[in-house]
Amino acid sequence: MRLVAVRETVEGERRVAITPETAKGFKKLKVDVTIEAGAGAAANFDDEAYTAEGALVENSRDVALRNADCWYFVNTPRKADIQLLRENTVLAGFVRPFDDLELVETLAKSRLTTFALELLPRTTRAQVMDALSSQASIAGYRAAVLGAASLSKVSPMMTTPAGTIPPARVLVIGAGVAGLQAIATAGRLGARVEAYDTRPAVKEQVESLGARFMELNLDSSDSETSGGYAKAQTEDFLDQQRALLADRLADFDIVITTALVPGQAAPILVPQSGVETMRRGSVIVDLAAANGGNCEVSVPDQRIDHAGVSVFGPTNLPSDLAPDASKMFSRNLLNFSKLIINSDGNLIVDFEDEIIAGATLTHAGKIVSEAVLKKLERS
Ligand code: NAI
Repeated sequence: MRLVAVRETVEGERRVAITPETAKGFKKLKVDVTIEAGAGAAANFDDEAYTAEGALVENSRDVALRNADCWYFVNTPRKADIQLLRENTVLAGFVRPFDDLELVETLAKSRLTTFALELLPRTTRAQVMDALSSQASIAGYRAAVLGAASLSKVSPMMTTPAGTIPPARVLVIGAGVAGLQAIATAGRLGARVEAYDTRPAVKEQVESLGARFMELNLDSSDSETSGGYAKAQTEDFLDQQRALLADRLADFDIVITTALVPGQAAPILVPQSGVETMRRGSVIVDLAAANGGNCEVSVPDQRIDHAGVSVFGPTNLPSDLAPDASKMFSRNLLNFSKLIINSDGNLIVDFEDEIIAGATLTHAGKIVSEAVLKKLERS
């Protein structure tokens, strides 16, 4: 079985799906690995490091893809590359299955078996392959560091002969995986951190990180699906939430927003008028910018100066830390592979397995994911 990774094609993407470390892991699984020459370069993994682990480095991207039984990528497959693949090739990586339905249809029509890592069930057994979580952790860390580095004030309390400077105050809105990591990092930088999430279950996790859970006078009793995800809130709820949050924003130096509802556009939680209440020199990092943004003012991948507040809308912070992000991502893929590769190194896919069933986006000429099919019906 030949597993292939080629250079990522989305602009600004520096990560790679297979690292030299996991190439070695795949070798142990009796899988042959081919890497397009230079595929790891932007993440500081050179071709020699792959060859040292028994991988084949191929100069021609076309040849690599044409011979693939399995193609792993980080950030969405490119249509021109899909055309090169043989029928029944197995693909795995982030596909953004709810955002590019045309791409999903192309994958199905090309009779490819696609595993979208976004669709993996968030179960305990799937944790070791949960790339959404590993990458969200990195994004949350980076968002807190970006916020602190861009703020015109120190983060920790400083007691000096010249007097005492109070700590920066940080608000994290949305305390999923990225939000919790942002809370932990901002806390380590010495800031005073508060956080809000519509899922009341999160309160304990926020407090266990030494942060304060912000109580808003909202009825959040029906805010979580049985799978542990946030439910979409009504416009009325969001109106109230925006108004309540806007009253508090002026207290904070840094606001980090991470609120998402799977398969939907991100809710706007920080309106322009709220930004305008914040002190000059304050910072907003909108981690939801790729999905429409939680802040009305943010623009994807730009730093906007609005009324003296710096508003960032980074869409791919893990790519800034490509070596570590790639290590985690490729370990997630290696762990996933153990479900679909037998002891002889051959692909044996059990579509009854709940993890496989959850992650399968396309197979045998069809779109399989019910959630994606529903989205298609609505579009
Ligand atoms: P996400 O990235 O989809 O959303 C981020 C956060 O935004 C969530 O905590 C969500 O509740 C919150 N949110 C949505 N609408 C909001 C609003 N209007 N105001 C404030 N916050 C809002 O979430 P993520 O990080 O992917 O985690 C989703 C769930 O999966 C969580 O319950 C998490 O604990 C769970 N999980 C479970 C794992 C497991 O192994 N059991 C692994 C990873 C995540």
